[in-house]
Amino acid sequence: DAPILVAIDGPAGSGKSSVSRAAAERLAFGILDTGAAYRALAWTALETGTDLDDPAAVEMLLAAWRYETALRGDARVLVRVPGHVEADVTAAIREPDISAQVSRVSKHPGVRDGLNAMFRRIVADSGLPGVVIEGRDITTVVAPDAPVRILMTASAEVRAHRRAGELPGLSHEHVLADIEARDAKDALVVDFFTAAPGVTTIDTSDLDFDGSVDAVIAVVRGAQ
Ligand code: C5P
Repeated sequence: DAPILVAIDGPAGSGKSSVSRAAAERLAFGILDTGAAYRALAWTALETGTDLDDPAAVEMLLAAWRYETALRGDARVLVRVPGHVEADVTAAIREPDISAQVSRVSKHPGVRDGLNAMFRRIVADSGLPGVVIEGRDITTVVAPDAPVRILMTASAEVRAHRRAGELPGLSHEHVLADIEARDAKDALVVDFFTAAPGVTTIDTSDLDFDGSVDAVIAVVRGAQ
């Protein structure tokens, strides 16, 4: 049987990644962080000297690229280009430089189509009863028919505050400017600030972490 899908979209710093992971754990579902794949592809492009702004070059890289991540348990991310690179990029893809460069690969429609096909294959082959899949275009493009679709939002101030907590040493203003710049670039390609018809919005501005997880679980239970 195909797994039950819980699709979650939202901007950087909305709490989406950590909340989705905790919700998946409570549901005994898998979790697929699609942003990690975009980050890992950007890392691989930089590592192999691929021009990130050249769609044909990135698509050619993607055709040879192998991406490995478990949907349950540890969140390690491995990438491989046979004959070129093989690396555990779990930590590297969270570096500020990757955050700054990733929109250069995610802006290419052909690259998005290729990664979306990979995401659907990973989910279909998972053998799990359910998978939480989170990103920017999951509710609209990757899994528009998912029985549960959520847009997770938070005010820009709250998002910057949370990110500043994750990246000690950077000022609040600096983090806010980086988040806004990345969201602006990403929003040119995918609208992840507006809930599509049938998508439930969860605003986490006034929720703590557990409250946000509870809110996701309540939407999932409500749909069953
Ligand atoms: O979610 P995260 O911040 O890790 O995503 C990293 C980047 O990957 C985003 O800034 C965006 O450019 C891209 N992305 C995307 N579509 C998705 C998930 C991520 O374009 N579904």
